[in-house]
Amino acid sequence: MITFEPVLLRRVGLPDSASLATYQADGGYAALRRALGMEPAQVIELVKRSGLRGRGGAGFPCGMKWTFLPKGHPGPIYLCVNGDESEPGTFNNRILMEEDPHQVLEGILIAGHAIRARTAYIYLRYEYGRSYRTLQRAIDECYANNLAGKNILGSGFDMDIFLHRGAGAYICGEETGLIESLEGKRAWPRIKPPFPAVEGLFRKPTIVNNIETLACVTQILDRGVDWFRSIGVAADVNNPRDLGSYGPKLYCLSGHVNRPGCYELPLGVTARRLIDQCGGGVRNGRRVKAVVPGGISMGFLSEAELDTPLDFNGPLQAGCLGLGTAAVIVIDDQTSMVDVLYNCCRFFSHESCGQCTPCREGTAWMTKILERIRAGRGEPSDLDLLLEVAGSMGILPGTTICGLSDGAAWPVKNAIHKFRPEFEQYIRSKRKK
Ligand SMILES: Cc1cc2nc3c(=O)[nH]c(=O)nc-3n(C[C@H](O)[C@H](O)[C@H](O)COP(=O)(O)O)c2cc1C
Ligand code: SF4
Repeated sequence: MITFEPVLLRRVGLPDSASLATYQADGGYAALRRALGMEPAQVIELVKRSGLRGRGGAGFPCGMKWTFLPKGHPGPIYLCVNGDESEPGTFNNRILMEEDPHQVLEGILIAGHAIRARTAYIYLRYEYGRSYRTLQRAIDECYANNLAGKNILGSGFDMDIFLHRGAGAYICGEETGLIESLEGKRAWPRIKPPFPAVEGLFRKPTIVNNIETLACVTQILDRGVDWFRSIGVAADVNNPRDLGSYGPKLYCLSGHVNRPGCYELPLGVTARRLIDQCGGGVRNGRRVKAVVPGGISMGFLSEAELDTPLDFNGPLQAGCLGLGTAAVIVIDDQTSMVDVLYNCCRFFSHESCGQCTPCREGTAWMTKILERIRAGRGEPSDLDLLLEVAGSMGILPGTTICGLSDGAAWPVKNAIHKFRPEFEQYIRSKRKK
């Protein structure tokens, strides 16, 4: 049985868990006081040593990203907090924002002090009405209690926090799309470089971090680097490129399981243990056919790959795009992978912003080919055609501006490589009818 005492979700379920009173009664804002007693560079060093990697999907080392800001910049420097949370299957940010917003706000203030930002914008998924109300109430409490605004806690540190409702599109979560949207424009991702740390919001140095990443920052300042590094999967000392997978992680479990939900576990739990021990197994006593390891853009694990550790390395080793948002979607053996893939393609085709031809056209054509297959007019050669289109789109083949396209291609590549006989059988049997 998995026994892990939750830290990030510790206050979830307490009466009035979102209030400042509950948070402070539980030791809240002690980590901020500690951080404000340190030099910004010391806080960055601490976060670097913790090994914290971004929880928004890419797993980029958080402390290292903070060091990319230009040295001695006179300002302004901005902090953009990514609460767009649009990856299908992902709802961990929502739980933090609705149940424990002060843990997130404390992380924002600590990060702001570390990177010398005086303004933070929280970019919130438009559909999250409850998160909007809860966060705004918590921000108001901060202003009323000298935890935001001028001279925070008498330290001389000033920071304003603004809550901004998103524009209702998946692409608004891509960091430069988010920045464009915050500036009041269409969320069209920017060509990088320059990266936001050098030229971001209003063309000023900007750090974009995910909600869960910032909640982890609070815990690192509160409990220490050694505590954080004692959880998860350590880096392979023989591999200098392995950055390890440290700390707790919020896994979102959904799909055909008995107990869907958001579970906090050490990074590296296997998909099998998550499904069996947290999720109570597959619904109606069925078997797993496939598992999405971290949001649909990461691709699929097959039943034979259920012992894959869900850390930053495991899904990659199994041919997926990565851990992504750690949103695990279970697909049972009664479900058609053709239907699953069609839904994925339809989503990405709808959400492509249209700037890059391989993404705009590729996502649309993959959807059309799958429509044809589902209508009984597919050819066996359509599978290679799908692979050809998928192989030509994305940052990895170097044809697009942002990673949406890689995320659109990956489910196609994985589904056909791992479930090809099912696709072939589907095409044959549909054509006969
Ligand atoms: C198409 C696309 C959508 C994304 N959506 C989100 C999102 O909803 N939330 C998020 O935190 N990161 C999202 N990201 C990743 C962000 O670009 C960025 O890497 C992240 O917010 C950085 O925060 P972190 O380093 O704390 O993880 C998305 C990336 C892409 C390519
Ligand atoms: S890859 Fe797709 S979503 Fe990203 S900028 Fe290009 S067209 Fe837009």
